[in-house]
Amino acid sequence: MSQTITITRPDDWHLHLRDDDMLRAVLPETARHFGRAIIMPNLVPPVVTANDATAYRSRVMAALPERSQFQPLMTLYLTDHTDAADVTAAHADGLITAVKLYPAGATTNSASGVTDIKHVMPVLEKMAEIGCPLCIHGEVTGADIDIFDREAVFIDTVLDPLRHTLPELKIISEHITTKNGVDYVMSADRNLAATITTHHLIINRNHLFVGGIKPHYFCLPIAKREHHRLALRRAATSGDARFFLGTDSAPHTDPNKESACGCAGVFSATNTMSCLAHVFEEDDALDQLERFASLNGPAYYGLATNHDTLTLVKSSTPVDYPVSIETNAGNVTVFNPGFPLYWRVV
Ligand code: DOR
Ligand code: ZN
Repeated sequence: MSQTITITRPDDWHLHLRDDDMLRAVLPETARHFGRAIIMPNLVPPVVTANDATAYRSRVMAALPERSQFQPLMTLYLTDHTDAADVTAAHADGLITAVKLYPAGATTNSASGVTDIKHVMPVLEKMAEIGCPLCIHGEVTGADIDIFDREAVFIDTVLDPLRHTLPELKIISEHITTKNGVDYVMSADRNLAATITTHHLIINRNHLFVGGIKPHYFCLPIAKREHHRLALRRAATSGDARFFLGTDSAPHTDPNKESACGCAGVFSATNTMSCLAHVFEEDDALDQLERFASLNGPAYYGLATNHDTLTLVKSSTPVDYPVSIETNAGNVTVFNPGFPLYWRVV
């Protein structure tokens, strides 16, 4: 007998859609399964002002498949020069759901990011006052800090001091990859939550390097040691309201990944729900999948949950999904979890 689970339609609380040809190719992959997604603003040039967000939102809506009910939740890219009044107006209009902080140089298209948290304190104070959430890419960028330590150092030197200075600011620590991140979020009783990606629940740093370098597993923050992955698994499958899904699905074309200087990003929009069902089943926690993917996120953001549902069926033979999707910009490889998937979205 086939096994079936039905959950409230999930949302993706951290998604890269890009623009133009890439946007048109990848958006249907997310819109097929998810009700809403927080849309990352790291375009080139970035989505910095309310006007930029209005224009980007229109391009996203125009790229949606006909009759799709998917809703993009827009964000602004915080810079040293962000205007607090512009953020306030965009939030009051319902145009943006959050603001994204990239430390300058931390990741893909972060060159215009924040060079020192001190420069953005007036904007963050205003956001705390108006209740606008801050999504944070939590990695320090100093060349002297080992890439595997950048998240832990960020928590100690930037995030913790920020939370003490502005306890009213609602923060989402994006795509946490360490036990340090899990423990830090669990130590907070309010105004701190974290997203966890699908791929960080599945791969550790061995997957990146053992047997040859795997560019399609390279993302930022980089996958860490196994004990960190296990801490993420426990957090995600626990049902704890402070942890929810943000896939960080981040498409790059194959030539840009398979290169002497390859881009960071894992594209998982296509098979994320199948991967998650596998992970939650493996941890005997299928009953917590709905909390992680559909309930905890909206509760933290203060939004209603989706009204409709998503059903997954477990088949006896592996599910077929494309190895890559074609775009006019080039092929984009779909995340390979390294094991067959049996759960299919119906
Ligand atoms: O791996 C990543 N890719 N991490 C990020 O923070 C950005 C993203 C992208 O935009 O490609
Ligand atoms: Zn991201």
